[in-house]
Amino acid sequence: MSMTITRRLALAAGIAGALFAAPAMAQTQMTVLHALPLNSHYGAGAQALKDTLERLTNNRFRVNIQRNDNEREGVESVQIGTAECVITSTGPVGNFVPAVRNVDVPFLFRDYAHARGVLDSDIGQGLLNQFNARGLVGVMWLENGFRHLTNSRREVNTPADLRGLKVRTMENQVHMRAFNTLGAQPTPMAFSELVPALQQGTVDGQENPIPVIVANNLNQVQRYLTLTAHVYSPAVLICNPGFMGRLNAADRTAFMEAARASQAANRARVTSDENTGVDELRRRGMTVTTTVDTAAFQTALAPAFAVYERELDGALLRRIRDWRAQ
Ligand code: PAF
Repeated sequence: MSMTITRRLALAAGIAGALFAAPAMAQTQMTVLHALPLNSHYGAGAQALKDTLERLTNNRFRVNIQRNDNEREGVESVQIGTAECVITSTGPVGNFVPAVRNVDVPFLFRDYAHARGVLDSDIGQGLLNQFNARGLVGVMWLENGFRHLTNSRREVNTPADLRGLKVRTMENQVHMRAFNTLGAQPTPMAFSELVPALQQGTVDGQENPIPVIVANNLNQVQRYLTLTAHVYSPAVLICNPGFMGRLNAADRTAFMEAARASQAANRARVTSDENTGVDELRRRGMTVTTTVDTAAFQTALAPAFAVYERELDGALLRRIRDWRAQ
């Protein structure tokens, strides 16, 4: 039976369609880890990375955001490739890339503009370049914020008030030395262990930026907040070298644009949390000490500063201190 013209046309169109249809694009699933709730400055950074990368690649990349509040484990996962990327504070990072310890030194950065300016300059890029030799790619500096002290025992105004307080610190040698020098008892542990440790009295206090204290409701387990701003806490987007190496040029450009969007969203959220967070914590019942004798804390830390100068990179520390916006 001969085919009708209509059926022939339909068949031809089908064959042409099959020949010329765009090949199905392979999808890349990737995981980004971070330690905080979605509604936080890390959550904002991770979400911006996801939205931008998925949009720029027409969803060929699908980003799965996962919480892991043990940051050392997060970095290890990226190193061995069970996760593609992590947004982490530098807390544990010096154990992988020792040069990063330089930016963990207390009272090194004057304010947010100084910290962001240095990390976005060739100084910050020089540190990111050092991740490669450690089986990691340092992609972009993000931000955790200036750290402040909270505790359940007493108002802290001077270094003397810290004496004997058991303070949870990150697993970070530079921070531990500072708290030891101030006469506190630093107790390093992963963030995942913090709330039970505060509830059970294993530690009296902890120190973290305002955005972390707010997002994790630490006011429920801590009464006193002192705005010590004793150290700036950088965060960093770190990725797996195999994952980064497999990106073609266009996808790499898209990924770097997504990383910049992540940095912008993360920093904007830190700024807005800083503007509203202290009042929010007061409203939730915390006693806030705002008049801190910063000079007294810096003087008390002099022996620690001497060790940092010797054991870290003294020249780099001076460059960071002397940095001024152009
Ligand atoms: O205290 C810490 O461990 C870090 O500041 C945190 C809360 C995990 C955010 O990076």
